[in-house]
Amino acid sequence: SSHLLSIDSLSRDHVDHLLRLAARMEPIAQRRQVTRVLEGAVLGNLFFEASTRTRVSFNAAFCRLGGSVCDTTGFTFSSMAKGESLYDTSRVMSGYCDAIVMRHPDQGSVAEFAAATHVPVINGGDGPGEHPSQALLDLYTIDKEFTRLGKKLAGAHVLLTGDLKYGRTVHSLIKLLSLYEPMRITLVAPPGLEMPSQVVDRVVSRGHRVEQRESLASDFADVDVVYTTRIQKERFTEEMNESFGVLSRDFTVDRAFLDQRCSDTTIVMHPLPRDSRPGANDLDVDLNSDPRLAIFRQTDNGIPVRMAIFASLLAVEEQIEHDLRPVRW
Ligand code: CP
Repeated sequence: SSHLLSIDSLSRDHVDHLLRLAARMEPIAQRRQVTRVLEGAVLGNLFFEASTRTRVSFNAAFCRLGGSVCDTTGFTFSSMAKGESLYDTSRVMSGYCDAIVMRHPDQGSVAEFAAATHVPVINGGDGPGEHPSQALLDLYTIDKEFTRLGKKLAGAHVLLTGDLKYGRTVHSLIKLLSLYEPMRITLVAPPGLEMPSQVVDRVVSRGHRVEQRESLASDFADVDVVYTTRIQKERFTEEMNESFGVLSRDFTVDRAFLDQRCSDTTIVMHPLPRDSRPGANDLDVDLNSDPRLAIFRQTDNGIPVRMAIFASLLAVEEQIEHDLRPVRW
């Protein structure tokens, strides 16, 4: 059985196919058409870490294709709280479900789980590792926004900022972007939270221009995409917690940054959640009414992209086309 565990297993052709498939799912996502193609199929949502978007949008995507979902959250719901292994849990779950989405705090744990099952497993985030479905919806969003703005991915300038060390969404996204024609990628992270060097080296070896800057206090007038991420304090070591303190405003994307350093056609993305607590200095709410803020268009795009992932993994792409009907509600 095939899984979606890491961007490493995807070719550019496969990604292009998934994005085209996602575009074909838009009438369902926009509640204009319905299908029952996954009637009788059961998705197991296994979330051992907090989630709103990934858990709910995978759930909604599966339901909108006609399937049902067993939705479970936290360690205490499962017998892993009694010491059951990932292997045993996987063997059991695959007898109950036709596909599984899993999120877990340990890097590599979703791949370990997938190795023990014959049903497709989707990595919904494995600690600081990867979050491949998020990267696919991010690329789908960039593609849609660029089409609207008359821009092209080839040669684009993408700024990735925030926690680039523990942010799994940026690990998957930079790998995904690197499958495409050379572009310019600028990385800005607070000290100690830089992108892992092996990831940077691989992107450079594929012909992309990667530049690392120390803060956002410089000119980004030609930047097409500002992709900002939350500081993942829950993954900090005790030492880092003591030394980190409050994030400097030099790393905050807000109205002043966008108006003074970027352009009218720069789009702002964030995988969310953004941290709204005092001192977090995450993506500022002062941008909420700015049309360049693409974050809620980005979350909406999670539905067609996740439908496309299910359609591909469960091989029902063609059946969906034949099963589409107008909505009756
Ligand atoms: N972007 C994302 O993964 O959000 P959740 O943690 O809410 O699923």
